[in-house]
Amino acid sequence: MARGDPFQEAARLLAGRRNAVALTGAGISVESGIPAFRGTHGLWEKFPPMEYATIGAFMRQPEKAWRMLSELLSLCGGASPNAAHAGLVELESRGVLRAVITQNVDGLHQAAGSRRVIEYHGNMKELVCISCWKHFPTRERWKAGEDAPRCECGEVLKPNIVLFGEPIPWIPQERAEEEARTCGVLLVIGTSAQVAPACDIPRIAKEAGAAVVEINPEETMLTGSVTDVYLPGKASEVVGRVLGILPPAGTPEN
Ligand code: APR
Repeated sequence: MARGDPFQEAARLLAGRRNAVALTGAGISVESGIPAFRGTHGLWEKFPPMEYATIGAFMRQPEKAWRMLSELLSLCGGASPNAAHAGLVELESRGVLRAVITQNVDGLHQAAGSRRVIEYHGNMKELVCISCWKHFPTRERWKAGEDAPRCECGEVLKPNIVLFGEPIPWIPQERAEEEARTCGVLLVIGTSAQVAPACDIPRIAKEAGAAVVEINPEETMLTGSVTDVYLPGKASEVVGRVLGILPPAGTPEN
């Protein structure tokens, strides 16, 4: 772990190496009003994931799983990007950040204007039929308060997200690993790093030579091991503070 002022250290690394990639989790959207999954008031407190969020649970009892999915959709649908999402767009426009890998399914990075977003766990804007694989825009088939939406063929529709027990689709997985292997700094924001394989991305980056900068109000499993620079605090405040002291892109690290 770095000594000295970690905020200065993070700003120096980001500006000096330029080719940073962000890995984001639910914590970056908390200030947009979408609660995280774990911890008090997390979605998993109300909907235990083994009952509501595995592919097996969905296939056995889709109506039950849709109670959780409807809540998540309503939360995502009513949310707007916050200052942390906007800060990542600013880092991109300053030539410092080249991509965002997100575990979130809320679409808020794209809504903020990030151009290269890898949706590791899919997104909520599409529904897919579990039988004929037809895709629909979510707003065409789902309305809050209704039962599980159905395809024209009669089968149940599932949001195009990765439930527990499902593999990560090949393209986002490959792209994310490639970004991790080739970035100079991995900026890890708002993830508890408890879910595989997303939690392996910081280690992949580190082993390939990247510096890992972590932003989170609480320490995680990464903090004492993989993280080089830990910036405690809320995503919007920390990203704003780093942006405020960021030297011009290309400034040497030391
Ligand atoms: N700013 C930054 N981080 C925050 C903030 C905030 N304002 N508020 C909370 N956090 C942190 C928490 O301290 C926690 O470490 O965000 C993290 C959220 O952790 P999780 O709820 O576990 O979310 P995440 O890591 O994204 O979960 C990974 O697990 O349940 C599955 O598929 C789901 O994509 C999700 C995956």
